[in-house]
Amino acid sequence: MTDIPASTIRGIGKLARDMAAITGSFSYPETAYHLPITYALTGVAVQDGASARQAFAKSGENPLVACECLLASKDAASGHEGAPYTGFIPDTVLRKLGYSLVDGSILGMALLAGSPASADEAAGMARELQEKYMLTFLAGDIIRILSSAGVKTGLDYRLAPLGSLPIHGVHFIDIVTRVAMMFGGVVPGDADRLIAYATERAKVFAIIFPGLADEEIAFMDTLKALSIPVLTTGGYEGGTWEKVTAEQVVSRGMELKDIRVKVTAIPIPMGCSPAFEGKSIRKEEMYVEFGGGKSPAFELLRTGRPGEVVDGRVTVIGPEIGEMRQGSAVPLGILIEVAGKRMRKEFEPVLERRIHNFVNYGEGSWHVAQRNLIWVRLSKEAVAKGVKVEHLGKLLAAKFKMDFPELLDAVQVTLFTDGKKVVEMMEEAEQTYEERDRRVLGMKDDEVDTFYSCTLCQTFAPNHVCIITPQRPALCGAISWLDGRTAYEISPAGANQPVRKGRLIDAARGEFEGVNEFVRKASHGEVNRCSLYALMENPMTCCGCFECIAVVLPEVNGVMVVNREFTGETPCGMSFSTLAGTIGGGAQTPGFAGISKAFILSDRFLQAEGGIERLVWIPAMLKEELGPRLEKRLEVIGKADLFGKIADENVAKTLEELQEFLARVNHPALSMRPLI
Ligand code: SF4
Ligand code: NI
Repeated sequence: MTDIPASTIRGIGKLARDMAAITGSFSYPETAYHLPITYALTGVAVQDGASARQAFAKSGENPLVACECLLASKDAASGHEGAPYTGFIPDTVLRKLGYSLVDGSILGMALLAGSPASADEAAGMARELQEKYMLTFLAGDIIRILSSAGVKTGLDYRLAPLGSLPIHGVHFIDIVTRVAMMFGGVVPGDADRLIAYATERAKVFAIIFPGLADEEIAFMDTLKALSIPVLTTGGYEGGTWEKVTAEQVVSRGMELKDIRVKVTAIPIPMGCSPAFEGKSIRKEEMYVEFGGGKSPAFELLRTGRPGEVVDGRVTVIGPEIGEMRQGSAVPLGILIEVAGKRMRKEFEPVLERRIHNFVNYGEGSWHVAQRNLIWVRLSKEAVAKGVKVEHLGKLLAAKFKMDFPELLDAVQVTLFTDGKKVVEMMEEAEQTYEERDRRVLGMKDDEVDTFYSCTLCQTFAPNHVCIITPQRPALCGAISWLDGRTAYEISPAGANQPVRKGRLIDAARGEFEGVNEFVRKASHGEVNRCSLYALMENPMTCCGCFECIAVVLPEVNGVMVVNREFTGETPCGMSFSTLAGTIGGGAQTPGFAGISKAFILSDRFLQAEGGIERLVWIPAMLKEELGPRLEKRLEVIGKADLFGKIADENVAKTLEELQEFLARVNHPALSMRPLI
């Protein structure tokens, strides 16, 4: 260590003095990982000055630990900054990001901290990061500077404003360390494993502008221990960071962490990137809307006859944007016709669902729901820049070709805005929806001999493997059996592979020889047996992006399910995020399973434990969301009265209250065979 800059040395000194004086009690909200950097590096669950000092000593006086403890203690003393800053980002939000981090719509994460001299340059970098599929965090004056340049910040724009000072960059690193613990199986206190994980898997880098205090410089200087490159465009006194020009800095950072991206610009007058997917267009911001109950609208993707589909052809039938009144609701039909030698009818619904993503990629276009329930908006800003209905078609045609090059030879888009035509075409579309539903609905695990695997999450959870069956959709809720099959046919060497069921070992638990063999190999020998429909014996492993967790409650002989959005405590005494922190990372935890919301409605749900009659508690919000579908399912199996017997937090917050409630309603679980 020859080249430690003077500011870093001063910073380390100051941190040590401040740590000696740190007092009070402090913690972050909604996390199972305490102060995550400190917890990951030392295993110490810091709550106050004494434990902070203990952790600091144990870490070898690591500036990362000092900065995190000091920031948490300062936050506790003076309160959080509030809007527009996010401050500490809760576990739930991170888990929600989990899937984007593995499906390729987020390629990596970057931190921008300090005070850039030029607003335009900073805005250019932010935009470049958005367009290159990066998730960016901002700390310090850059946030104010970007908004003065008209750049919208927020997690929805993939530009998360952490806090007003560069030191709030701590929250960027606490995310990196939590991802390692949540998804990567890194055990708190195992610093070596953390470093190895960060080095091999964390696709992250930092870009630093001037204006950092000595302690902040010491913090950034320590990032190299986690193999996180620190780049600067100049103005930093120590000079140990890599100096790069503003034009080069983003691509250099990506290159250093081997983050590869292929961006092809679509010739329309608005930006197009997954970075814009989360943004909404509010009523005041919208120029025109389509559907959403205000006007008839639908979308349909179907295979056209070869020769009839002209690649890239976009037609608008009906009025264009110039003839639409500002603030009005207009009918819309989106008809996408595709052709390709490998295209099959079964792929249509899978591809059709992508319309939602693609329209949202547009900086000024917004889309919700599917089929004949769609709701689309175009923003005033976009229309002012020249965006027309036609450009939605161009965007869709281009994105489908880009994302499915092997499958699609030609994509043609017709947009109907003429009310009569829309209604006419909608009838045709509705017939197609019905046909599809009939095809998929009846599909049962017993009727197929092949399931599909997914190992996308191995990016973070190296030994995790999902097995997806017709009746057990993936735990992240994002992939059905049909999706798995389609993905495999589109890219045979990809993350979804066929899994032959093989010999049946146990029908109730759903254990198959072929599945076990596959899981053994794909988990690198870590997991030998996997039951698809069981919670108690060899349940499927969890990565971290499950929609819900099912937990056995032996005291009431039943099972509770909690969804990610529910932030309260559950009758088992733990919140979702605490529970999630104890499972996951690719491990098998008997009595716990990560599941999707849709699986609750499946015949196979809790099969080994005796079926849905075991379900004793779910949050009210989940009950409402599943509402009619759950009622229907219970009706079909002749147990309509069970719906009212499933408790939620309004009738039972604790185990005692749950016991009382279940006894009062005479819940069937109470008289089933003992679970344990
Ligand atoms: Fe991850 Fe499983 Fe979803 Fe694939 S199916 S993305 S492995 S959770
Ligand atoms: Ni996952």
